[in-house]
Amino acid sequence: MAAWLTSLQTDTPQEGFELALKLARKGVGYTQPDAEVRDRLRQEYAEDADSLTMASQVVAIHFQTVAAANNYWK
Ligand code: HEM
Repeated sequence: MAAWLTSLQTDTPQEGFELALKLARKGVGYTQPDAEVRDRLRQEYAEDADSLTMASQVVAIHFQTVAAANNYWK
């Protein structure tokens, strides 16, 4: 697979958050490579508050890593 994660460094916290989102979504993509299955399951989680809360939690965990890697953009 072509490299898609070459650095954890980002210029701004917002870009860092977007990287965290990418990591979360890539995690799903590696876990379930079948796009047709992801499309089917999307309909369920998109309208389920608990699933969306868990998805945001995964993003938040990745954001902790990205923020630490950027020394909290200090
Ligand atoms: C769309 C995030 C889990 C399937 C999206 C979008 C976001 C997102 C932000 C809408 C924006 C965009 O299309 O770029 C996440 C996060 C997850 C997660 C953070 C958990 C860590 C899942 C799971 C599935 C899934 C478990 C299914 C197995 C999809 C699909 C779309 C989508 C198929 C595309 C919908 C469309 O383009 O119409 N996801 N997602 N996601 N998600 Fe997730």
